[in-house]
Amino acid sequence: MKTAICYLSFHHGNTLQVVQAMAREGAADLVDVRTRQAVHLEDYDCIGFASGIYGFEYHRAVVEFARQYLPQNKKVFFVCTYGGAKGSGSKALRALAAQRGCTVVGEFGCKGYDTFGPFKLVGGLAKGHPNAQDLERARAFFQQITRE
Ligand SMILES: Cc1cc2nc3c(=O)[nH]c(=O)nc-3n(C[C@H](O)[C@H](O)[C@H](O)COP(=O)(O)O)c2cc1C
Repeated sequence: MKTAICYLSFHHGNTLQVVQAMAREGAADLVDVRTRQAVHLEDYDCIGFASGIYGFEYHRAVVEFARQYLPQNKKVFFVCTYGGAKGSGSKALRALAAQRGCTVVGEFGCKGYDTFGPFKLVGGLAKGHPNAQDLERARAFFQQITRE
């Protein structure tokens, strides 16, 4: 199954570590939503959207990218990292997927080192994450959703 993961990772590169682990597991093309590389998401069977959780949601640039480029009737999945909790962060992406007739095949989330604002003063949240176990879970998740 031809797979792309469109991601944004800027705080500590946490999400990038996760999507790289997934890409190493199976063949997946990584698309940084900040670059102006030509994207042809219609060429893919399965499309992931990935970012840290910022203000309780996936980064707005990832949601915007999906709004602009997600074709109809694809398999989609979501990947996030978060300092505290992911909550209902994928709500906007799920709504968009439903509008485009896309099937959500899964969502992966794990903790990611977080030094936002006051957390920096206490050495940050989720120090050491994603760790080896998180990345192993990420690989297993990716293997499972891309199996068929
Ligand atoms: C501006 C900002 C807002 C954040 N908001 C949240 C939040 O609402 N909930 C949460 O659990 N983590 C929050 N975090 C922590 C990030 O989600 C976490 O560090 C994530 O792993 C960053 O991913 P990245 O390194 O791939 O950018 C925030 C971090 C920043 C910098």
